[in-house]
Amino acid sequence: MLLVPDIRHTPHVFFHRVIFLICGFIVCPLLIYLLLFLSRYFVPYLLYFVLSAAALLIVIAPIRIAWPVAAKADCSSRFRFVCLSCCLLTPALIVSAGVFNNNHPQLKECSIELPRKASSLKELKIVFASDFHLDPDDDHVLDRFITKANSARPDIILIGGDMMQPSVAPNLDKLKILLRRLRARYGVYAIKGNEDGNEFNREFYASAGIKLLEENIEKIDSSFYLAGFQKESGLIEDFLKAAPDDLPVILLRHIPKDLEIISRSRVDLQLSGHTHNGQLFPLNLLIMPRYYELAHGIKVKRNTIFAVTCGIRSWDSPVKTAGYSEILFIKVSFRSDINTPAVTG
Ligand SMILES: [Fe+2]
Repeated sequence: MLLVPDIRHTPHVFFHRVIFLICGFIVCPLLIYLLLFLSRYFVPYLLYFVLSAAALLIVIAPIRIAWPVAAKADCSSRFRFVCLSCCLLTPALIVSAGVFNNNHPQLKECSIELPRKASSLKELKIVFASDFHLDPDDDHVLDRFITKANSARPDIILIGGDMMQPSVAPNLDKLKILLRRLRARYGVYAIKGNEDGNEFNREFYASAGIKLLEENIEKIDSSFYLAGFQKESGLIEDFLKAAPDDLPVILLRHIPKDLEIISRSRVDLQLSGHTHNGQLFPLNLLIMPRYYELAHGIKVKRNTIFAVTCGIRSWDSPVKTAGYSEILFIKVSFRSDINTPAVTG
């Protein structure tokens, strides 16, 4: 018969179990937090690991074929260690650069000319920012945006939607306090993005000192029209028919769709975000052109200039390698001697 010792009466075993349980309660949440934290970097890391390994193979393969002595050399453990180190470190460096890009939005300037029509306004300085995708502890991101936006001394500040990361509960009171610091002569206007929940309603924006555009057209200081169209599809043609033609028209639309329709309308300038320009290189080159006529940058098409920003931050994973985070600063010159818009700088 096998005798099993009764550990309940063995003090040191009992003590070990208590320690184990206490450590488990502390370590498990820390481990879960660490895994969740790292999971946001995992996809970009994996992407660049695969690309680094592929690039290394492309470099090594022709050398091995052309120079057989090299084939022997690359069997050495030292060579393999160097290759493995390259494959592990290169993606880490790229992801680190991507995190820096994501966290340091730059003020990107451009100059355009629009037909003045019957407006008396000669110049308009616009700050346009979109896709904040904030986490609850991202006060510093908003703070940087507000400082940069105000320092440009804009005539108008436009916000293109997507304030919070998906599924993140916002602290609305904190957001309102921060957003109230934005300063512009004609005020601050916003549209909602596809990630913005019902809490980002007219009341929220009003108490943050921002006017929400919801399928409406505002006449600003008898100088130009500002339109906002939030719906993702349909009805844009009917909406644009209502756009007046006596003054320049600026359209704020989160998703840069229907460029063909809009370019034939009275809209002179459309501002959009949403795309993040694919966020990760080379997805910006491989995937974005399939879905968007313009995924990032500025383009003149018939009567309209389209400007698409890659956003202040990235979607979900805080890594941006297809460009840096940006705030657009657009200097508009209204000219009575032109009928079509132009990008001048
Ligand atoms: Fe979006």
